[in-house]
Parts: sequence; C-alpha cells; structure tokens
Amino acid sequence: MARYADAKAFVAMMRSGTRPDGSAVSTVMPFGALREMSDVDLEALYLHLKGLSAQMAASR
Ligand code: HEM
Repeated sequence: MARYADAKAFVAMMRSGTRPDGSAVSTVMPFGALREMSDVDLEALYLHLKGLSAQMAASR
C-alpha cells in the first residue's frame, strides 16, 4: 500500500488498473467489476488496507 499516498491514488488504480507510477496491474484483477464500486466503498477499503499495513509494520 506504500505506493498509494492518498485515497485518490488508490481509487484511480481500482478503476483504471494503472498504478501511480503509470505501470499496469495484472488484468487478473477484475477492473470491469471493481469499477462499479462507489467512492465511499473504495475510500473505506483504502483506509482499512492502510490500517492493516500500519499494524503489520508496527508488529515487525
Ligand atoms: C475489492 C476487492 C479488491 C481489492 C481492494 C484489491 C486490491 C488490490 C491491490 C491494492 C493490489 C496491489 C496493486 C499494486 O500492485 O499496486 C491488488 C493486486 C492484485 N489483485 Fe486485487 N483487489 C481486489 C479484488 C481482486 C480480485 C477479485 C482478484 C481476482 C480474482 C484480484 C486479483 C489481483 C491480482 C492477481 C493482483 C496482482 C496484480 C499485479 O501484481 O500485477 N483482486 N489488488
């Protein structure tokens, strides 16, 4: 999650399949379906995943 500085960058990847650095995420990830998720749901996922990353880093 380190490459996603804010929810905007994460939401953009979830809808386009493109990372902030311009590289492509594998099309195994179903972007056609994920694009249907609402802004609120994607922002909540971003906060959840950021929280998990922080917890994992703290327990190392
Ligand atoms: C809401 C559901 C999902 C979330 C939040 C999510 C989130 C993510 C994130 C954050 C990454 C890393 C992106 C990066 O490298 O910058 C990723 C990669 C990936 N996801 Fe998902 N994903 C979801 C659903 C799925 C589903 C349903 C599949 C397949 C059945 C899938 C398959 C993959 C694969 C194969 C990668 C590795 C792609 C690569 O490294 O190029 N994802 N996902």
